[in-house]
Amino acid sequence: MTVKILPSVTTANFACLGDEVRGLAAAGVDRIHWDVMDGRYVPNITFGPDVIAACRPLVACGFEAHVMCDSPEDLLPRFVDAGCELVTLHPETLRQPHRTYAAVRELGLRLGIALSPATGVEPLTHVLDLVDMVLVMTVDPGFGGQSYLTSMEPKVAAVAELLERAGHTVELGVDGGVGPDTIAGPAAAGADAFVCGSALWRYPSFSEGVADLRRRADAARPATA
Ligand code: DX5
Ligand code: ZN
Repeated sequence: MTVKILPSVTTANFACLGDEVRGLAAAGVDRIHWDVMDGRYVPNITFGPDVIAACRPLVACGFEAHVMCDSPEDLLPRFVDAGCELVTLHPETLRQPHRTYAAVRELGLRLGIALSPATGVEPLTHVLDLVDMVLVMTVDPGFGGQSYLTSMEPKVAAVAELLERAGHTVELGVDGGVGPDTIAGPAAAGADAFVCGSALWRYPSFSEGVADLRRRADAARPATA
């Protein structure tokens, strides 16, 4: 699969969010990654589907919601209305994960499953037929700008192996602290999708950041990927 760069708007200047989103889309990102936080599952509050919906008409690129909320089941149709094509859920937040995953697919959304640092690969094993993306968290969810956890790379490799064995074409992403100095590790371990927040905002421009991160990830990927 080709490398995907997924900017997290958590680092954006919320006072001019529309301009930030336009700038990211113009830089050629693959999808915009919206971190929805509820102040309960994670100790921070960001925005909800209404804010995503307000930005939807501004750009043509894909939107995905990374939902860090307790019991998000009732919110799911709102992400469809907001124009998301994929939602990523944390299994710990769901009472009946399989039921909810099936509901996501019924809504016409693609499904991502996020694995927090202390969560192993087990939540994936019986639901792979429903999954379009696995997101290995390389920080504890809740805030942008945290340090990348190198200790998650064996988990990236374990997920890559699981997917390979199952014969499923599933995006394998990493999220948290991913930037020019850290992107090669997960790319070498088998990741093909990279959520980048604060690192992208540190480049002189989004275009330079997206191009540089894409090049570094491509260079580090295993020859067979
Ligand atoms: C963490 C979020 C991330 C994060 C990315 O809870 O899921 O998407 O904000 O930001 P950086 O790249 O700054 O870690
Ligand atoms: Zn995220």
